[in-house]
Amino acid sequence: MANSVLKVQPTVESPETDLEQRGRLAASLTAMLADAYVLMVKTQGFHWNVVGPLFVSLHELTEQQYQDLFGAIDKIAERIRALGYPAPTSIADLMPHSALAEAHGSNFSAEQMVSALISDHETVSRRLRDAVEVAEDLRDAATADMLTKRLQVHEKAIWMLRAIIAS
Ligand SMILES: [Fe+2]
Repeated sequence: MANSVLKVQPTVESPETDLEQRGRLAASLTAMLADAYVLMVKTQGFHWNVVGPLFVSLHELTEQQYQDLFGAIDKIAERIRALGYPAPTSIADLMPHSALAEAHGSNFSAEQMVSALISDHETVSRRLRDAVEVAEDLRDAATADMLTKRLQVHEKAIWMLRAIIAS
């Protein structure tokens, strides 16, 4: 038992790290980046277009959320680079990797906006849990930690959005 405790585990930079596994993790991060972009644009669009009694609360909450997503996008992309893979340089390259549908038009009620955002944050949370597993398989603690923190943010967003429309 003592030997296994002392055994040095491979790190993300180690030549022992399996290239295919690392590629899978970079692909997972690219998917997370694509989701974050789609959700940021949708969240900001709702921030601009919300009307009605929920205006103040949803306008302010969406501002916090799109700003958080903007910061997350940079961190996720830089982690892809740290793994040795290229970060995307166009929306067109990124879009096929997102599991989220874009919101077209501006004719949404505040309740429809909140429901759409909750659904997207739930989808992102599910995909983040899968990505954390990939990072943990690789023993990439830094990426797993970053993704776990993102998961906490999305779960909090779900709670706050649900609270806005709770009766
Ligand atoms: Fe604004």
